[in-house]
Amino acid sequence: MRDLKSVLSLLALQAAILAPAQVSIRSDEAHQLWQMSAGEMTYVVGINDAKALQSIYWGPRLNQAATFTTAKQLPELASFDPSVATTPLEYPAWGGGLPLEPALKVSFRDGNRSLQLVFSDARVTADELEITEHDIKAPILVHLHYRLSPSGILARWSVVENRGREPVTVEQAFSATWNLPPRRDYDLSWLTGRWGGEWQLHTEALHSGARVLESRRGSTSHQANPWFAIGSTAETNETSGPVWFGELGWSGSWRISVEQTEQQRIRITGGYNPFDFSFPLAPGASLETPRFYAGYTTHGHGEASRILHRFQRAEILPQSPAPRPRPIIFNSWEATEFNVDEAGQIALAERAAQVGAERMVIDDGWFGQRKNDHAGLGDWYVNPQKFPHGLKPVIDRVHSLGMDFGIWVEPEMVNPDSDLYRKHPDWAMNFPGRPRSEARNQLLLNLAREDVRQYVFTWLDKLVSENDIAFLKWDYNRNWSEPGWDAVPLEQQKTIYLRYVQNLYSILSDLRKKHPKLEIESCSGGGGRVDLGILRYTDEVWPSDNTDALDRLSIQDGFTHAYSPNLMVAWVTDVPNFLDRRVIPLPFRFLVAMNGSLGIGGNLNKWTPEEMSEASRMTAFYKTIRNTVQFGSLFRLIGPRQSEETATEYVSADGKQAVVFGFLHSQHYGNPFPSLRLQGLDPAATYTLKTLDPAKAPNLPQQLNGAQLMGEGLSLKLAGDYDATAILLERTDH
Ligand code: GLA
Repeated sequence: MRDLKSVLSLLALQAAILAPAQVSIRSDEAHQLWQMSAGEMTYVVGINDAKALQSIYWGPRLNQAATFTTAKQLPELASFDPSVATTPLEYPAWGGGLPLEPALKVSFRDGNRSLQLVFSDARVTADELEITEHDIKAPILVHLHYRLSPSGILARWSVVENRGREPVTVEQAFSATWNLPPRRDYDLSWLTGRWGGEWQLHTEALHSGARVLESRRGSTSHQANPWFAIGSTAETNETSGPVWFGELGWSGSWRISVEQTEQQRIRITGGYNPFDFSFPLAPGASLETPRFYAGYTTHGHGEASRILHRFQRAEILPQSPAPRPRPIIFNSWEATEFNVDEAGQIALAERAAQVGAERMVIDDGWFGQRKNDHAGLGDWYVNPQKFPHGLKPVIDRVHSLGMDFGIWVEPEMVNPDSDLYRKHPDWAMNFPGRPRSEARNQLLLNLAREDVRQYVFTWLDKLVSENDIAFLKWDYNRNWSEPGWDAVPLEQQKTIYLRYVQNLYSILSDLRKKHPKLEIESCSGGGGRVDLGILRYTDEVWPSDNTDALDRLSIQDGFTHAYSPNLMVAWVTDVPNFLDRRVIPLPFRFLVAMNGSLGIGGNLNKWTPEEMSEASRMTAFYKTIRNTVQFGSLFRLIGPRQSEETATEYVSADGKQAVVFGFLHSQHYGNPFPSLRLQGLDPAATYTLKTLDPAKAPNLPQQLNGAQLMGEGLSLKLAGDYDATAILLERTDH
């Protein structure tokens, strides 16, 4: 171990030279602490008198001259809560009596299961701090990484390294523990759901005990999303007040536990789900945990979302920092389900092009012996009855119509009724000799296996190389049931949880490298696999199979708390809706879908000439506001759960354009639509207003200034059930 003082002074020098303006890391030698700042946030950690890394500050941005109290371990709280539990440690290992959720738990061959981590070393670059700790006796090193991004996000992860001569077993390895400042009025917001009902937002006061958000299903899940936001009960709302928020970048089983300790401190620990987890570390081997991203704002839940949106677009997506605008997709699923064929898809493509679609996507049903969901998954050849000339005639026609072409795949799955399963039954994930549970008549391929990884990559690569495919809709329609992997030694079998996801990422990454123009959507029976891990390799996600426009308002609202609108594909589909049987007028359906990446999923062959021309009007309007919706700042003016109305506003990144959407779900007592006080405008600037439907904003002046629009607001005349409109604002240059 290097001498602490010399390390720190060198680091202070490095940090001063390298730090860019937006992010900074200051090493304070005298107090053994590191002050990290990005965006609105400062985060400070320090080495305490027990040589452990401790949280010192997480809150509003402070300048470099700020002073902090020296890190000091806190005393025990009676004999039942030792100092290791009362001190806000940055990465507490299980040992020394820790009764709370440990970030790390390791067992050794000699029977020892206790770890106590103390400081070894630090390394600072312009945007990254790496603190290394080691156990007081055992040769285990833990590298704690902190990486700052200019968008105001701090990414944390750990690397656990076995420097000994004996193998050890990691039983639990989280990415980070985040400690909040002690106060008593915290509210937790989180997202849950199910198939057809994802992105349900909940907010509840935190009390003593733990709230566990997790998936044990092998993938991210519909049931909970790895995102949290914590505000103050008294102070925080959509537009103001402190919010500490974060999300995980992992597409396998995950857990975030939010604990309020007996001292009323909040600690948030997240990363790999420890359920059924065990990871052997051979001598010299290490285990890296996923990125756990977090941020802070004093401007309420709206700004917390906007920070995440900017961060995702600038730093997470494969096309970051400047992702291309999402095209208007036509997707065949709700129109034709499994009955896809050459003539039918060409007819739909022609209609789609007429209404302004830019990408034609053939969904499920084009491959193997796929007539319904009982057969075909695994056999990825073009079905010769449905497409006797291969995909080329359809793709050529799509291109001649001015669109590009995409196709649905579900690479991780196999139907028992498939040639692949008949040839390789051992490739299906299973415990030998035990039942293999089917869901939607399918089994999971064990992607952790190298031969399966290669098979999947090879056929995908061939499909994309032999056909001019711009886009894959990558689906995943079930959860894990029997996660067995008997081809490797017993102690490695549980690594399936990690290896599977790592191989999934590697296939996506290799495909993108080989086909740089290819774009990919992450779909899992709707929004079952949306997280910052998969989003490093995919350009967009399908948030839900539920396409009912009223339900979508809540789904989209919940989604945007955690993810950017440009990622969220939203189709306009037919009525009565297949799920809710609800009948909602076409303009309302379009305006709802315009709040994300607009697409069309209805059976266009059945649309009347009036509907076709309304669709063209709507897609033309969307194209004028697409960049503002997809890359601007979202303001949720009225949330869909608050009342019978919903309203959203987007302001373009350069501030020159804004668009406002108003939705009346159902009319009560003839109440007028509330005036919409806008946000995020320049109060001194003048805006020219244009309405999509003049009758719905009859008294709209041609121009208003920003202060009026934000103070007095905009009046819309919406009436009856499912009425909606949009107003476009262009800033006049001054
Ligand atoms: C999933 C997807 C749908 C559709 C079907 C096809 O449910 O979410 O959009 O692709 O599979 O089988």
